[in-house]
Amino acid sequence: MNLSLENKRVLVLAASKGLGRAIATAFAHEGSHVVITSRDASALEDTANTIKQETGNENVYFSSSDITKEKDLQSLVNETVEKLGGVDILINNSGGPRAGLFEDMTAEDWQQAYELNLLSYVRTTQAVLPYMKKQQFGRIVNITSSSIKQALDGMVLSNTFRAGVLGLTKSLATELAGEDILVNTVGPGRIATDRVAELDAIAANKQDKQPEDIKRESEKKIPAGRYGEPEEFAKTVVFLASGANTYVTGQSLLVDGGLVRSL
Ligand SMILES: NC(=O)c1ccc[n+]([C@@H]2O[C@H](COP(=O)([O-])OP(=O)(O)OC[C@H]3O[C@@H](n4cnc5c(N)ncnc54)[C@H](OP(=O)(O)O)[C@@H]3O)[C@@H](O)[C@H]2O)c1
Repeated sequence: MNLSLENKRVLVLAASKGLGRAIATAFAHEGSHVVITSRDASALEDTANTIKQETGNENVYFSSSDITKEKDLQSLVNETVEKLGGVDILINNSGGPRAGLFEDMTAEDWQQAYELNLLSYVRTTQAVLPYMKKQQFGRIVNITSSSIKQALDGMVLSNTFRAGVLGLTKSLATELAGEDILVNTVGPGRIATDRVAELDAIAANKQDKQPEDIKRESEKKIPAGRYGEPEEFAKTVVFLASGANTYVTGQSLLVDGGLVRSL
């Protein structure tokens, strides 16, 4: 299948490590021109250099930003357009919200998760849409969580704001499909990244167990019998964002090894 990603201009949020990094690497393998962002400039520089080495693609750039800050996002999009000449593909990704129960969350936690996991996606989309509309082409993939299909215990912030991203995705898909701008959501189940290791450590601490025990118990609930790899997650995102996807829009898809049983 020809993914038509050669020379496509891609912006990936929250990409110094984990899922964002794997997605950026997969685009670089396809010959796309990629800008990655996160808050830590030196980690980003290392990641950009590693991606270049791994893929042989020199068109990998970085620009540090805090995606909860409107000004940072506007500068990021401006810089991306300066470096790449436009934006064809936007991957909205973020750090995870604080884990915990409703009674654990302060007003500040709610505000932070709103800005990190929902508003940042809205703002970046607003900033890139004029370019996509002008060229009558665009692909947006919003990274969320398996909580879009089945609420997660002890993850009230994820359960709340990921649902908001679903609504946003559906509205955008409806409003933009006529301009060949396709918008989808992809949710990870349990993909082996630092975030999942951190959540396992929190659960281990609460239950007085070792993180490896939590991992083993989690893997037993996954029909595939293991955590996914970031590269496996990235493949689905890259297809939805590619020129090979001409008719899938407004969908929410899980990459979860069969974890979620809902229909
Ligand atoms: N991995 C999974 O199985 C899984 C499951 C469910 C949901 N998710 C969700 O998928 C997303 C990505 O997960 P992951 O596993 O790749 O997480 P990760 O390994 O912790 O990576 C998170 C990335 O987000 C960046 N980031 C965090 N806050 C930021 C901010 N304010 N501005 C800019 N960049 C920021 C981090 O870089 P800096 O720290 O340098 O900013 C890092 O590059 C998260 O929202 C997570 O909750 C993941």
